[in-house]
Amino acid sequence: MFDTMTLTKAGGALCGAFLIFLLGKWAAESLYHTGAVAHGDEEVAQAYVIDTGAEEGGEAAADEGPDFATIYASADAAAGEKVFGKCKACHKLDGSNGTGPHLDGVVDRAVGGVAGFGYSDSMASHGGNWDPETLSHFLENPKGFIAGTKMSFAGLKKIEDRANVIAYLAANGG
Ligand code: HEC
Repeated sequence: MFDTMTLTKAGGALCGAFLIFLLGKWAAESLYHTGAVAHGDEEVAQAYVIDTGAEEGGEAAADEGPDFATIYASADAAAGEKVFGKCKACHKLDGSNGTGPHLDGVVDRAVGGVAGFGYSDSMASHGGNWDPETLSHFLENPKGFIAGTKMSFAGLKKIEDRANVIAYLAANGG
């Protein structure tokens, strides 16, 4: 029953199938051309980039610009006096306390250091001194820096505002 014709046809069918298989493989490889290893050092261009946002985050960090110390070094105390307008409702610079403790000489003063002022527990137990950098962190986001502080102030988002008001406070050492 296996005459020559049948064998030839079967062989032809096999060859055809193999050819299609090879064609398919070739097509697939050129479509999904990703194997960096298989292609050695040959540069593999990515068809598209999945935006994970990771790079944006990196850029944002890079965009932050000069650090606080650099900005503070050229801070403007006169401009800081204007910023202090936002603090005046609660803070005085004449040695008397208001809603908040007086801020005479607050730069490098002990945190929670005004005797007789009723600090929150979190401020009273914080420890350390208000060096300019620490003040800047606190003023950026008071409740974020000292959870539980009773200073109800949203914060100064601009680093220049913080540097300027701290320079103003430092100039009014009391
Ligand atoms: C709504 C009132 C209010 C405003 C506005 C406010 N503060 Fe305060 N501030 C407080 C209170 C109350 C405390 C005490 C917080 C505590 O005990 O947790 C405080 C604490 C502080 C301290 C810590 C002092 C210490 O002796 O440890 C600093 C520094 C300070 N404020 C700076 C500022 C500056 C600068 C501004 C303006 C940019 C400002 N605050 C705006 C109410 C205010």
